[in-house]
Amino acid sequence: MRLGINIDHVATIRNARGGNHPNPLEIAIIAEKCNVDNITAHLREDRRHVNENDIKSLLSKLKIPLNFEMAATSEMISFAVENLPYACCIVPEKREEITTEGGLNLKSNKEIIDCINQLKDAGIFCSLFIDPDIEQIDIASEIGADAIEIHTGKYCDALSESIMVNELENIKKSAIFAKSKGLDVHAGHGLNYKNISEIAKIEEITEVNIGHFLIGEAIKIGITEAILKMKSIIDNTRKVVV
Ligand code: PXP
Repeated sequence: MRLGINIDHVATIRNARGGNHPNPLEIAIIAEKCNVDNITAHLREDRRHVNENDIKSLLSKLKIPLNFEMAATSEMISFAVENLPYACCIVPEKREEITTEGGLNLKSNKEIIDCINQLKDAGIFCSLFIDPDIEQIDIASEIGADAIEIHTGKYCDALSESIMVNELENIKKSAIFAKSKGLDVHAGHGLNYKNISEIAKIEEITEVNIGHFLIGEAIKIGITEAILKMKSIIDNTRKVVV
């Protein structure tokens, strides 16, 4: 299972004071040295965390792929096509939300299809951030996505055991269905040391992207130790299962 590190919240802390500390690129390079598999960053319409210069410097300095998270807007499509990240993950975006609260609704999908076509024409690997929902996955495969990223928020934030079990079951069924449709299956949102194991047990999921928790942990134990601990939980769980 590949591990991607989302560095958005390094930029959130930097932006609290302006200036350039902490520097998202510097943290991404440390993550790269920990042998993570990609760096993820979400350029939002309101630039609340990373900005264009962050993305450009990540693209020019990193050896590992950049997974560029973006809304399906003409502004972001132009930026992606000009700068050519390895992968784009299309996400829904509402200015007033604290974070990406749910997956895309692919039922009204005209602008998402246009976005996928333009990204794929530019040779960019294209994934769609969606809830664990069979109908949405079916549409994702029909409209030509290379991958889906399953939004794990409802599982991670579940307030009761029964909701958690139910959400996990949805994630498992969705991952199996998506793989059967030829899609690469990723997962992310709200993952931490505790809830990652059940996700790592799902063989069909080949990549997880984790941000907020690891950046928070880094304040306590440092980014290297936080990443290595997460990697070892994932690798040990995976070894037992596969
Ligand atoms: N994957 C996607 C598509 C995201 O939008 C985010 C951030 O919302 C993450 C992964 C990482 O989530 P978190 O910061 O909760 O680990």
